[in-house]
Amino acid sequence: MHETPDFLPRRRDALAFLLASGASLCSPGFGFGAEQSARPAAAPSKPAAADRTAPLLKDVFKSHFAVGMAGDVPGNYSERELALVREQFNAVTPENCMKPSLVHPSENQWRFERTDAFMNWCVENKIAFIHGHTLLWHHQTGDWFFQGDDKAVVIQRMKSHIDGLAGRYKGKIRSWDVVNEAIDDRGDARTAETENLRKTGWLRTVGPEFLTLAFQFARQADPAAQLYYNDYGIEAGPKHASSMVLLRRLLKEKAPVYGVGIQGHWSTRGIPYDALDRSIADYASLGLKVAISELDVTIAGASGGQLGGAGGRREVRPPTAEELQAQADAYAKLFAIFVKHKDVIDRITFWGLNDRRTWRYGQHPLLFDAECRPKSAFWAVVEQANRSIRPAAASR
Ligand code: XIL
Repeated sequence: MHETPDFLPRRRDALAFLLASGASLCSPGFGFGAEQSARPAAAPSKPAAADRTAPLLKDVFKSHFAVGMAGDVPGNYSERELALVREQFNAVTPENCMKPSLVHPSENQWRFERTDAFMNWCVENKIAFIHGHTLLWHHQTGDWFFQGDDKAVVIQRMKSHIDGLAGRYKGKIRSWDVVNEAIDDRGDARTAETENLRKTGWLRTVGPEFLTLAFQFARQADPAAQLYYNDYGIEAGPKHASSMVLLRRLLKEKAPVYGVGIQGHWSTRGIPYDALDRSIADYASLGLKVAISELDVTIAGASGGQLGGAGGRREVRPPTAEELQAQADAYAKLFAIFVKHKDVIDRITFWGLNDRRTWRYGQHPLLFDAECRPKSAFWAVVEQANRSIRPAAASR
């Protein structure tokens, strides 16, 4: 199991010193890792003056979908970073603090300090759209849920977990990832005809109905929340086919599924654009909404939803101009697809804030660089909104 690398608190003294000395957390040369601080920051793709006039993502896509970020705010985010969240985004997802092992580490222990702080910050800062992540998963989930292998007991634990968490924030969280990543990665023509569920503790102890039960419990805990199935790699290939088999079954069993979260952990090499386009239409054909729930596009190294599958925080080299351009092109193509499906897509959430605050640190996957400056990819994304609103003017 992969736990959150909680490296940030150890840097608190350094942060306090920097703040006291008047340094900006977004100033070049400051990094969380020693390997980063020695390296030059990536060159901004527009002159610094452009920062002040940068359009706001939440405004440019106002008539399309919500635009979100993921992070356990306010945590130890700098003022500059928190301002960027407030200014640019109208949706926020907690990156880790609401995951089972963090908020509910053992049967009789809840840890609501960080989740309450997160909710308070979002409410105080008028974040209209809080998306909860995630009620059921196989990673970042204590083994205690499955101890004893007794189906009735595990179902009861699942229910009290969902009641305890979704119930606590009832009416405040607009949507929840109810089940995360239930479909297996290894798929072929044969498994494409089946749900091909991942061999998790939930499947072993409860069986395939664990998904329907989870959606029903979530509905009971917070009747107004929009409930999502969330996964990576479900936009293409046998995993997409399995997701359709699974969702059809859930709907048939009257599981209150509102939408599908396509995570969107991609790399500039090999984004399945056509399949993505088709998959959004497929989910819409089932009467479901879609969220792009964890978007990032790495420019170096592997991506994918798998934990630990990328280069981690070890090697950091600045991106080249070509890499930044390839990334901007990829984001432009993606947003052309998202804009086309704006009636189906409720929300696009970036997984992180900037190239410092990302689980793909060192792979420069987001729209803002480590110093919070908009990259070429940012401008490419904004351009897609302009095109969709004024197609003729944009093509001139
Ligand atoms: C990641 C976080 O970003 C990391 O900080 C953590 O160490 C591991 O989890 N799919 C998901 C997210 O649904 O919860 C994962 O988030 C990324 C993959």
